[in-house]
Amino acid sequence: MTESLLIIEKTEQVGKIQLNRPQVLNALNTALVRELADVMEQMDQDDDIRCILLTGNDKAFAAGADIGEMAEATSVDFIVKPFFADWDRIRKISKPIIAAVDGFALGGGCELAMCCDIIVASETARFGQPEINLGVIPGAGGTQRLTRAVGKVRAMEMILTGKPIPAQVALELGLINRVVPSESLEEEAFQLAKEIAGKPPLAVRLAKQAVLKAMDLPLEHGLHFEQHSFYLLFSSDDQREGMRAFQEKRKPDFKGK
Ligand code: HXC
Repeated sequence: MTESLLIIEKTEQVGKIQLNRPQVLNALNTALVRELADVMEQMDQDDDIRCILLTGNDKAFAAGADIGEMAEATSVDFIVKPFFADWDRIRKISKPIIAAVDGFALGGGCELAMCCDIIVASETARFGQPEINLGVIPGAGGTQRLTRAVGKVRAMEMILTGKPIPAQVALELGLINRVVPSESLEEEAFQLAKEIAGKPPLAVRLAKQAVLKAMDLPLEHGLHFEQHSFYLLFSSDDQREGMRAFQEKRKPDFKGK
């Protein structure tokens, strides 16, 4: 029997997905990325899930795309397959995704973490884009998202040297949100996911969209998107509930409607 590529669990409105190819440091082959996109889309549709938590193991979040699978590929293979379609599906997930990163997050692994909305890392995590050493460049957003996250000169150095950076440096550069001891990574990331899962889901969804828009829209258009999202939320029961609960000095009960 083949082992499943992902380990999935649902706890307290958090959908947890663990990458599960430990023998190759969670190298991201096509089947795994396809399954990941499938599961994330299912979780996106599941009313019992309000936040997604993506993890690897203590040695690797993911050490990149599967080099064995790519080594003999041709340009035509990438066009015909199409290789990045599943990455685009992950990018379009509307619920927040938290990455809990331990060990290596390299190449596609670093890019996958950057596709997530929040990154919590262990003290031993390492982030890098080593593709240059293989004769290629990042292909799942590395040159774009890393540059937006840490700025041109830092991204340039990481991408041109291929040298990974430790979690503490990633934190200082603004690539990740926090660094925690390895043994508490899962719990800290889960608590953060639970906290976000307790927020009004529609507002969370629109907030995620609006922040992502800030990454690629001019300010004028981004502000326009934000204002319209703000108006839209006044059609939701959760807006009434949130504001009434404040006035009545009680805890709000958000339904996602
Ligand atoms: C396939 C991989 C792999 C990868 C590790 N393995 N990374 N297999 N694809 N990306 C396999 C190794 O071949 C080895 O298998 C096993 O995992 C353990 O790895 P070791 O190298 O023995 O471990 P270690 O000495 O601890 O070194 C860890 C490492 C090194 C520094 C992370 O494995 C490494 O440099 N990996 C490649 C990292 C990389 O270049 N990533 C970018 C890939 S390109 P065996 O069978 O020998 O035990 C990319 C492009 C993205 O990501 C494009 C968009 C998706």
